[in-house]
Amino acid sequence: MTGQTPLEIRPFGTALGAEIRGVDLSAPQPTAVTEKIHAAWLDNLVLVFRNQSLNDDDLVKFSRHFGDLDMVPGWEPFSPEGHPEVLVVSNVQEDGTAIGVLGDGEASWHTDMAYIPKPPPASLLYSLEVPETGGDTSFMNMYAALNTLPDDLRQAINGKTLNHDSSHDSGGNLRPNHDMFTSLSEAPGARHPIIRTHPETGKSALFLGRRLHTWIVGEDVAQSDALLDRLWEHCTSEDLTYRHHWQKGDLLMWDNRVTMHRREHFDAGARRVMHRTQLKGNQGVEAAA
Ligand SMILES: [Fe+2]
Repeated sequence: MTGQTPLEIRPFGTALGAEIRGVDLSAPQPTAVTEKIHAAWLDNLVLVFRNQSLNDDDLVKFSRHFGDLDMVPGWEPFSPEGHPEVLVVSNVQEDGTAIGVLGDGEASWHTDMAYIPKPPPASLLYSLEVPETGGDTSFMNMYAALNTLPDDLRQAINGKTLNHDSSHDSGGNLRPNHDMFTSLSEAPGARHPIIRTHPETGKSALFLGRRLHTWIVGEDVAQSDALLDRLWEHCTSEDLTYRHHWQKGDLLMWDNRVTMHRREHFDAGARRVMHRTQLKGNQGVEAAA
């Protein structure tokens, strides 16, 4: 019967995140279920599905319920055969060649691809192999980050735009075919409002992208850095975050418009293999009214 499903939504009671129980994502999903998942995703920002058993077809089919899929430019060699929409995130090497991206290092707080004009609205990450310790992923609630900002800081950034550097990756490395700029004001990348409106919920949120090499357009670089440092100090409070310890068979789905995430490093000798999809962005970032 429409609307009657066994699906269970269990918020973690932290700043964001909920576990979804009662659904086998390898099976076809009725519209009533995917609509309920979509609503839970908007409410909780990060959804966790445990004990799933998915192949790449399953992952792609489930992801497509929420929009068209996108590919990350330059990372095509790290897609499984026949699945260009899937990206392997892994430290594993086979015959001396990396099978995926990001290695075993830390990835600092970021929103995926905030440096393009239409950033992806969601990313989905499925774990095939995980280390016993390390490699946890933390998420930050950017609605709450904005709502708890001190008034003077909110006033100082109200109506401002942030330049999101596209020339460095989340590990701080200069991407291939990019040159280092001499001033932050010359960094390449998209410019987005620093306080945005979520296109589906209509709520306002902070949109910071990442810390390294961002610049508040029009500000003196030192003043921009001082404001951004205060914003980041506020945001990275544990009160605004959920930390996920991975188990094999976890699928996580996050709202990339109102969250940031970071990954901790893990033992280089351990194996970690994840398959990832992301939704294609179909609109720019709207400023808050
Ligand atoms: Fe990411």
